[in-house]
Amino acid sequence: MSGTRPFPRPGGLERAARGRLDGRAGPLGLSRPPPVRQDEPVSHADDLDPAAMRAQYQSTGLAEEDLAAGPYEQFGRWFAQTAANGLHEPNAMIVSTADAAGRPSSRTVLLKAYDDSGFVFYTNYGSRKAREIAENAHVSLLFPWHPMARQVIVTGTAARVAPEETAAYFRSRPHGSQIGAWASAQSTVAASRAEIDEAYERTAARFPEGEPVPVPPQWGGFRVSAETVEFWQGREHRLHDRLRYVRTEDGGWRVERLCP
Ligand SMILES: Cc1cc2nc3c(=O)[nH]c(=O)nc-3n(C[C@H](O)[C@H](O)[C@H](O)COP(=O)(O)O)c2cc1C
Repeated sequence: MSGTRPFPRPGGLERAARGRLDGRAGPLGLSRPPPVRQDEPVSHADDLDPAAMRAQYQSTGLAEEDLAAGPYEQFGRWFAQTAANGLHEPNAMIVSTADAAGRPSSRTVLLKAYDDSGFVFYTNYGSRKAREIAENAHVSLLFPWHPMARQVIVTGTAARVAPEETAAYFRSRPHGSQIGAWASAQSTVAASRAEIDEAYERTAARFPEGEPVPVPPQWGGFRVSAETVEFWQGREHRLHDRLRYVRTEDGGWRVERLCP
């Protein structure tokens, strides 16, 4: 059986998913699940046994001939399919960094753009992840698309995006997020929640709604330029498909299959 079906072209969804990702609800399936209260009662919490949780993957496979010529185009196909399936925040990805001593750390961020030069996310340049990237530009990205029995794993190097690119994205953010970027010294220790809320209120008074908010000097984007991109498709009996694009010296890509 052949793998993923060819994506319909000209690709409405693929096109919608390509380029800047603006987080509006709509065809990208970004509706939010209801918030969970901290004291929400849960029955049988003590009986939850992770060892007994076993999902069977029955999706069709991913074959070499199904793949696009390059990993960014292949990513676009899977990204559009993930969004079309209504997965919540399909642009959420786990970024792993490591400090100069090789100690790793991971966290979720949102992909905000991608093209043939890389995957872009925005953050605070004083944060732990940004400090680690300054010491060691090698990073890994992971898109955990579990409901589709898929994951995409990128390895590559991160570099700051140009200030104009950051400014263009920052201007598109809601006012509250712009204020939040000014108010929070991300990853530093806070004395209390009240201190954080007060910093927000002070900043909001400085930049009233309706007036342009400048980009905070410590805030901006990173572009991860891929060296390898693995497309993982869950299959029956744990015999999954793993196809990995590897960048070649001439700037092209070769594909290799990995054992599951
Ligand atoms: C779904 C989700 C999306 C997030 N998106 C971002 C993001 O785009 N940028 C960011 O700096 N932090 C984002 N965060 C918060 C990060 O996971 C993390 O707490 C923060 O960046 C500080 O990480 P660090 O101290 O390791 O640098 C997000 C968290 C979640 C759960």
